[in-house]
Amino acid sequence: MAANYAGLLADKLEEGGNRQQARQIRERLARAPAALASVQDAERGISLNNLPVDGESRLHTVDVSRPELRDVALVLPSAIESRVQEFLASVRHHDALVAANAALPNRLLLHGLPGTGKTQLARWVAAQLGLQLLTVRCDTLVSSLLGQTSRNLRRVFEYAEQRPCVLFLDEFDALAGARGNERDVGELQRVVIALLQNIDALPDGTILVAATNHDQLLDPAVWRRFSFRVPMPLPDPDVRQALWQRFLGDYAPSNLDVRGLVARSEGLTGAVIEQICLDAKRSAVLARQSQVDGDEVFRRLGLTLALIERVPVSTRDAEMAWLRHWDRKIFSLRTLAKLYGVSTRHVTNITQEGSVDGHEEDDRKSG
Ligand SMILES: Nc1ncnc2c1ncn2[C@@H]1O[C@H](COP(=O)(O)OP(=O)(O)O)[C@@H](O)[C@H]1O
Ligand SMILES: [Mg+2]
Repeated sequence: MAANYAGLLADKLEEGGNRQQARQIRERLARAPAALASVQDAERGISLNNLPVDGESRLHTVDVSRPELRDVALVLPSAIESRVQEFLASVRHHDALVAANAALPNRLLLHGLPGTGKTQLARWVAAQLGLQLLTVRCDTLVSSLLGQTSRNLRRVFEYAEQRPCVLFLDEFDALAGARGNERDVGELQRVVIALLQNIDALPDGTILVAATNHDQLLDPAVWRRFSFRVPMPLPDPDVRQALWQRFLGDYAPSNLDVRGLVARSEGLTGAVIEQICLDAKRSAVLARQSQVDGDEVFRRLGLTLALIERVPVSTRDAEMAWLRHWDRKIFSLRTLAKLYGVSTRHVTNITQEGSVDGHEEDDRKSG
């Protein structure tokens, strides 16, 4: 009830021209528990249908979701995790920090290679705080450049200021990198300037998260506006182990060589590991097996690496040859024959190994 009245009061104040106080009240409300806010929204007739839309296309410029912790699988190295926890603590105790004159704006910038979990981390932050996640895909915002963009941005920011939420600017470099770009200077620069103005006008309490793949493209002016900056690294061995185990889940056979997977997946992102696991699970399900075949997981890992290293493997024979070359121990002639349903003689032929090498078959039993 108190929240409802406060909301009404804010509306009244605003109608009376007292924007400053109205905003202060809304800022407060924005940090009220989420349950209050949805009541408030319902009372005021706000629903997801009232989301800001593009003036011309009527498409939503923002995506609203409410991530739940149980749906967000995230594994972080401990140093990164504690940086993020610091940010969360700062958000949760914003008032106390303001009172002590020690508050930082609730703004977090995530940067790192594609597939390192930035979008996932934004979802995790929203889930941790129990807040709605308002995602703005900056690249789509730019690609729909219509002179409407600045107004679209304004609407999104206004929307975010008025409710408890995490405003998430994803693929942020699409906007933020534009200032130094020589093409498209006119419209794009206006967008960037509008973006900066919007960020500057944002109350410190509003939670803003941005993610970018190209931190080196970011304008220093943009960079400075974020009080918390977290680099998303490639997964270290511990994280990789957790990722393999999590993404294979119950489908991991007990004799799976997890150590081997960890060692051979160095330099891969979480997204790539997830993809390999999903592919392996899919083929297990289609083969009506309750667990993945360890050799099959290594096979997919090897083929993924071939792709990354731009090794052409366009035929099954080429695949076998590559795998054999990649790891003779894992891919014994017999294992390859089993995986591809061919004879060991065929494998010997295509890998151009004479019978001298035949004894290597016994290096590692399949399974
Ligand atoms: N550290 C990680 N922990 C858990 N999942 C991860 C991690 N890194 C990547 N992933 C997985 O990879 C996929 C892509 O990650 P995403 O957050 O979209 O990366 P980015 O936004 O950095 O490009 C997600 O579905 C996520 O499940
Ligand atoms: Mg992303």
